[in-house]
Amino acid sequence: MSATQGSLAEEASRSEGEALQSGSFLERFDSTPEAEQWPLVRSWINNYPIPFFKELRESRPILRTPVCTLIARFDDFNEAVSIPNTFTVALYKPKMGDYLMAEDDTPMHNNEKALMMSLLKREDLPKIRELVATRAKETLDCANGEIDLVPNYGRTVPTAMVQEHFGLDGIDPKYLIKWSYWNQYDTFHNQFFHNEPDPEAIIQNRKRSNRWLGLYIGVLIARKWVMNKLGKSKDDVVYRILQVEPPEGVKFNILRQGINAGGLLIGAVETTSMAVSQAVEGILSRPEVFALAQAAAKEGDNETFDPIVWEALRFNPAFKYMFRTAAEDYTLAKGTARETTITKGETVLPLMLSAMFDSAAFDDPETFNPARPYGNSFHFGSGLHECMGKEIGRVMIPEMVKQVLLRPEIRALGSIDKDGGAVPEHYLLKWKA
Ligand code: HEM
Repeated sequence: MSATQGSLAEEASRSEGEALQSGSFLERFDSTPEAEQWPLVRSWINNYPIPFFKELRESRPILRTPVCTLIARFDDFNEAVSIPNTFTVALYKPKMGDYLMAEDDTPMHNNEKALMMSLLKREDLPKIRELVATRAKETLDCANGEIDLVPNYGRTVPTAMVQEHFGLDGIDPKYLIKWSYWNQYDTFHNQFFHNEPDPEAIIQNRKRSNRWLGLYIGVLIARKWVMNKLGKSKDDVVYRILQVEPPEGVKFNILRQGINAGGLLIGAVETTSMAVSQAVEGILSRPEVFALAQAAAKEGDNETFDPIVWEALRFNPAFKYMFRTAAEDYTLAKGTARETTITKGETVLPLMLSAMFDSAAFDDPETFNPARPYGNSFHFGSGLHECMGKEIGRVMIPEMVKQVLLRPEIRALGSIDKDGGAVPEHYLLKWKA
C-alpha cells in the first residue's frame, strides 16, 4: 500500500503549524515574557509536538527554557541518555524510594536489573502472547459490542498478565490497577515542570497506594515463601524471585525481593494502557493503515501487524520525553554549532518523539510507513534505564491492539479522553457483536 499520513491529532498539529506559520513557534517563544515561556512550551509539547519538535530540530535543537532544556535531535538524545551519572534520574528518587529505577550506574541498579531480567525469561514470550490474547478475547467477548477501552481493557488485560504470569495473585485486580496508576502518575506526570494544579493530592494518592501495596506484597511474599518451602510452588515470576540464588556478595534479601515484585506491577499496567489506546486510535484514524492492519490480523501475520503498531505509536508514543537532572556541568553536542553547556542541577528533557522523527536516523520520518523496522525506536526508553519489561511490552501491546482490530466493524465513538489529566482515561469503541 502507499504510505499514508494524517490522524486527527496530527491534522490538528498540522493546522496549528499552519496557523502559526512554519518557523513561528520559536518566534513566538522568543517574544514571550520569560515567566510565560514554559507554559507555552508545555502546551506545544502536549498539543502540537510534531511540528514544534520539527522546528526545534531544524532551528534550535537544544532549547533552553526558564524551567528546563529540551533536547530534540537523535544524536543529542542518545548522548544524554548514555551518560547516566551525568544526566541522572534524581527526580525519580522522591517518588520511587529505593527501587532500582531510581538509581543510575550503581551496583544495586545493575545487579537487580540483571537478576530480574534473567527471571523475565525471553523463552516465556510466546506463552505471554497467548495468555494476553486469551484474556483480551474474553474481555471483548463479554463486552457485547461496546467498550470503554481504557478502564475495561487497557488496564485490565495487563493486570491479568501481572496476576497470572508475574504471580501477583490473590487480590482483586482493581487494587493493582489503582496502585500502578498513582505510582506512574506521580513519577511521570507530577514533576515540578508538569505544573499539576494539586501536586500534593497526587503524592498522597501515591503514598496511600504504596502503604497498601507494601502490605499486599508482604503477605504475598510470605505466602509464596511458605508454599515454596513446602515444595508447592508453581512457575511464576514471584516464585522465581524467591528461588533465585544471587552470586556471592550480591544482596537480594526478602525485602529487595518484595520491592522488585512490586516494581513489576508498577511498570506493567498504566504504561500498557496508554500505549494500547494510543496505538488503536492511531490505526483507526488512518483508513488505509487500518485496512492493512486488519488484513494482517485476520491472517495471524504478526510480522506484518506488529510494525504497524509501533509506527502508529511513533506518531504518539506512550512517553514523548524522559527527564534527567545534570549532576555536573556538561557540554552537549560538543564541537557542533549547537553545542550547549548544561549546568549542574539543570533539568533536561530528551525528547523521544522528536528523536524518532529525526531524518538522521529515520528515512522520510513524517510519512507513516507501516513496514518501518523497529530499529532505533525509543518506545521503551534507551540507555541504562531502558525498560526492563520491553520484550514483554513488545508482544503484549501489539497482541492487545490486534484483538481489538479483529472485532467486526470496529470503530471509535470519539477520540481518547484524558479527562483533563495526563493519561488516557476513556476511549469508546463499538463493533458488531
Ligand atoms: C511489561 C511490563 C513492564 C515492566 C515490568 C517495566 C519495568 C520497567 C523498569 C523496571 C524500568 C526501569 C529500568 C531501569 O531503570 O533500568 C522501565 C523503564 C521504562 N519503561 Fe517499562 N516496564 C514495563 C512495560 C512498559 C511499557 C508497556 C512501556 C511503554 C510503552 C514502558 C516504558 C518504559 C520507559 C520509557 C522506560 C524508561 C524510563 C527512563 O529511562 O527513565 N514500560 N520499565
